[in-house]
Amino acid sequence: MRRMRRLRSSGAMRSLVQETRIHRQQLVYPIFVTEGENMKNPVASMPGIFQYSIDRLDELCKEIRERGVQNLLIFGIPAHKDERGSQAYARDGITQRAIRYLKEQNPEFLVIADVCLCEYTSHGHCGLVDGCHILNDETLPLLTEMSVSLAKAGADLIAPSDMMDGRVAAIRRGLDAAGFVDIPIMSYSAKYASGYYGPFREAAHSAPGFGDRKTYQMDPPNVREALREMEADIEEGADILMVKPGLAYLDVLRAASQRFDYPMAVYNVSGEYAMVKAAAAQGWIDERRIVMENMLAMKRAGADIIITYHALDVAGWLEDE
Ligand code: PBG
Ligand code: ZN
Repeated sequence: MRRMRRLRSSGAMRSLVQETRIHRQQLVYPIFVTEGENMKNPVASMPGIFQYSIDRLDELCKEIRERGVQNLLIFGIPAHKDERGSQAYARDGITQRAIRYLKEQNPEFLVIADVCLCEYTSHGHCGLVDGCHILNDETLPLLTEMSVSLAKAGADLIAPSDMMDGRVAAIRRGLDAAGFVDIPIMSYSAKYASGYYGPFREAAHSAPGFGDRKTYQMDPPNVREALREMEADIEEGADILMVKPGLAYLDVLRAASQRFDYPMAVYNVSGEYAMVKAAAAQGWIDERRIVMENMLAMKRAGADIIITYHALDVAGWLEDE
């Protein structure tokens, strides 16, 4: 008789036939860096996540190193915002300074720079605006300038998240022209206009001042369109593709990972994190079990790289597995 339970008889047996595994080396931990001094501000909707000023980053880096996490995604929160997001590509912008500091102190970290204007613009949109219209082509030179400036600061990987058309090609050209031919691009290719970004916008002070992001981020009902976005990004020179958010878009991740022979990243976003933390705080779920299940779900669906606010916890739990 066929007995499926034979291979479930012990931890060792289950581990022997385990099909999917989480690797610490493929976790990416997002961090928020703010201007000012001696700051470690909690983000209310993301328990365990803080905005750090540069002079307090060492405490965080120590924790990250101890957990054996090596990949960081940096979000800077500038004190000054304007129409054109000029702090996004200022040599001494908060993100540039943070990256310079992080790489000086921890050359072994792989530092990923998110490229988008929304944290830096007074209107909170990811591109330049004209009235209530979000401009595409006019935004591309700024994203390119920002990318080059972050590469100069020491970023190892450039990750455009703005969803303007043609950005990967523009950024690739700009990086190459500035001599950064070896800096890869991880494109937020299939980034949906999602309610799951709410807590992040509080953490990064990046909520749009008017309207929404639906004219540039993707419409949640569409999958084939996500594949077209990815195809375009590949043609434009992307090295790594991303689906965002994660858990509500596992079908997109699966379709993308089957279609394209490129490293696939997924962003387990702030709202997904907040929901888990809220239920865990109530004692309604077992946080560790749920988080690890969520990580496996994204892996099974085809993710290589997982960007998650749970990264430090996950790395710790992996150690005692
Ligand atoms: C910036 C950006 C956002 C996120 C990553 N980069 C927010 C947005 O598009 O509004 C979301 C991350 C998260 O929710 O964890 N464009
Ligand atoms: Zn943005």
